[in-house]
Amino acid sequence: MKIQQNISLKPYNTFGIAVNAQRYIDIASLNELKELLSTEKDFFILSGGSNLLLTKDIEKLVVHLNTKGIEVLHSDENDAFIKVQAGENWHVFVLWCIDHNYGGVENLSLIPGNVGTTPIQNIGAYGVEVKDTIHEVEGLKIENNTSKIFTNKDCEFDYRDSIFKNEQKDNYIITSVTFKLTKNHHKLNSSYGAIQSELEKNNIKNTTIKDISDAVITIRQSKLPDPKEIGNSGSFFKNSVISKEQFEKLQEKHLNMPFYEVKGNKPHPDPDSYRDRDVNRKSKILYKVPAGWLVEQCGFKGKRFGDAGVHKNQALVLVNYGNATGKEIWELAQKIQKAVLKKFGIALEAEVNII
Ligand code: EPU
Repeated sequence: MKIQQNISLKPYNTFGIAVNAQRYIDIASLNELKELLSTEKDFFILSGGSNLLLTKDIEKLVVHLNTKGIEVLHSDENDAFIKVQAGENWHVFVLWCIDHNYGGVENLSLIPGNVGTTPIQNIGAYGVEVKDTIHEVEGLKIENNTSKIFTNKDCEFDYRDSIFKNEQKDNYIITSVTFKLTKNHHKLNSSYGAIQSELEKNNIKNTTIKDISDAVITIRQSKLPDPKEIGNSGSFFKNSVISKEQFEKLQEKHLNMPFYEVKGNKPHPDPDSYRDRDVNRKSKILYKVPAGWLVEQCGFKGKRFGDAGVHKNQALVLVNYGNATGKEIWELAQKIQKAVLKKFGIALEAEVNII
């Protein structure tokens, strides 16, 4: 455990932005983290670096969380409770689950980043959100260096949102996540159109969690750029959820506008995640409009401005072709936000954390 000076963070963020950390430390265990916390209180936690846009050098001590470990705490006939250290790579963990026949995370294959950050923004793809599999989250409170368990309910999960982005923002370092996964009778989620077509294409009949994972990997590889080849942070913006009134006005002008009806009091684009909860709360119909479509309609899809650009297959993904600065990417994002606001009256919200 040694503090290093002037380290380039380019290898540590999936956008591949070359900013420096004045001071940097690699943390390999919970004990090391606790030791550090006993002397340092003001730092910047860097995990998988997959949901970040770094626009400047980091003056605070950069703490790179590199804790490893996957442990089956207990299991019964149907479920297994698996505790995973925050620094484990998410996709490596997903593949481990597939190998051991633990079901629940297969739709979330190939999402970049580390396990510890998955609850913060409640990662989601192809009809599943990580909240569906999280049993509890363990966090270390920065203020007093003590651990606390957050149950699934305590986490207040929502679309790309949780208590760790709101009330408890910057108060805790997530040190591990315990998942509740199925051992048999897997609840396969192949309802997403692209998964179905992929399974049909390969003539798959008795679908397994591995088939779903393979299908998701193929779909993601065809649509989304690999951060190892082109820097990116996945979806840069959240999908937009608008009121019925706004939707109806827009639809008059844009007949081909894709949309999904969602219910709730708060914007949320994934109808599947809302279904259960709506029963118990007053909700109204809202309309999800894919942000990728809005960005494409404004003419940005595939456009390049220096080394900053918009991906050619998915307009929701901003990319760094090599040497873009964080500022350049952010300028492009703001240009897109302005254009979408002007054309559709919709304010796109960044999903990525801008630092
Ligand atoms: N669309 C366009 N042009 C584009 C992109 C999308 O018109 O360039 C329209 C199409 O009509 C398409 C619809 O948008 O049918 C939805 O597109 P897609 O299925 O690619 O999904 P998305 O809503 O754009 C969300 C997540 C992704 C996740 C996919 C699949 C958000 C912000 N993004 O994207 O998550 O992989 O669904 O479930 O919710 C991420 O968060 O980093 C991420 C990649």
